[in-house]
Amino acid sequence: MPAGVDVSILDRRLVFVTGKGGVGKTSIAAALAHLAAQRGKRTLVCEMDAKGSLAAAFDVGSLKFQPRQIEPNLFAMTMTTEDALKEYLRLFVKLPLIGRIGPLARTFDFLADAAPGVREILVIGKLCYEVRERHYDIVIVDAEATGHIVSQIGAPTTIREMAQVGLVRDQTDWMLKVLHDTSVTGVAVVTTPEEMPVTETLALLERLERETGVAPTSLIANRVLPNLFEGPQRDVADRLAEMLPLIKSEAGRGASAVLEAARITEARRQIGAGHLDRLRAESDLPMLCVPELFTRATGRRVVTLVADALDEKVG
Ligand SMILES: Nc1ncnc2c1ncn2[C@@H]1O[C@H](COP(=O)(O)OP(=O)(O)OP(=O)(O)O)[C@@H](O)[C@H]1O
Ligand SMILES: [Mg+2]
Repeated sequence: MPAGVDVSILDRRLVFVTGKGGVGKTSIAAALAHLAAQRGKRTLVCEMDAKGSLAAAFDVGSLKFQPRQIEPNLFAMTMTTEDALKEYLRLFVKLPLIGRIGPLARTFDFLADAAPGVREILVIGKLCYEVRERHYDIVIVDAEATGHIVSQIGAPTTIREMAQVGLVRDQTDWMLKVLHDTSVTGVAVVTTPEEMPVTETLALLERLERETGVAPTSLIANRVLPNLFEGPQRDVADRLAEMLPLIKSEAGRGASAVLEAARITEARRQIGAGHLDRLRAESDLPMLCVPELFTRATGRRVVTLVADALDEKVG
């Protein structure tokens, strides 16, 4: 199925949320997970960078590798390579539960440093495994930023190219089946309406499918400013801008300052809209817009506000 065609993000079973640092990946991933859970889907949300931002987004202290229920239908975890390795050994190599993997971990570190993709395939493998075993209806990943996502999602392809036959090849084949099916796996690239995030997004779109075979499926423009002067309002603002300086009172000066602030915000919005137009011109992926929230709120409040903004748009 071609990328981005008619499948809502939440109808997929594995969704990676990536984008430049700081654009809102964690907030969007958390909001999508909250929405999916509210819609009755058994949902797993997984943080890949272990920074603790996902736990902070849901105001839940800390998260571990073992998923923990944080809302009805919603389970959250944080990924660690060591835990993913332990689980892999237990499930696939049938080694009994190992407390501290000591020497084995050192051998693994040696291996992982020598061969590209070894660490990455463990964590991607864990996510694909959850999908394959249908432990959840949907797995939403607060994924690595644009700089690292290609090597992470591309790990099964990298490893597969090194192993032509045998167990490793068999292991990568089923993962690639999950990752390459755009009706199963989606990649949502988050950007803000600014030059650098949009430029990074375009570069990522170009590399992702070519280097990993995993297609980007949607764009999410976050922190979009509202259009303050639509149609006739613009004429009114222009006339006010001419008239207000003539009113020599305190109120007149105050109103002028407010109008000027609004005009500066509008100018910023237009510049941002130009960057998003550039993105639309170069990609035909669906773009969902999330407004700037203008709130000092943090944590769960931000998640629910972003989820409300996405609710109708995700279909
Ligand atoms: N639509 C929005 N309006 C206002 N603030 C927002 C919005 N989306 C996210 N934020 C805020 O922006 C900050 C960064 O968001 P977030 O942590 O989700 O970004 P990130 O891409 O995950 O960052 P990192 O690359 O560090 O992981 C947070 O303080 C968050 O509350
Ligand atoms: Mg984050």
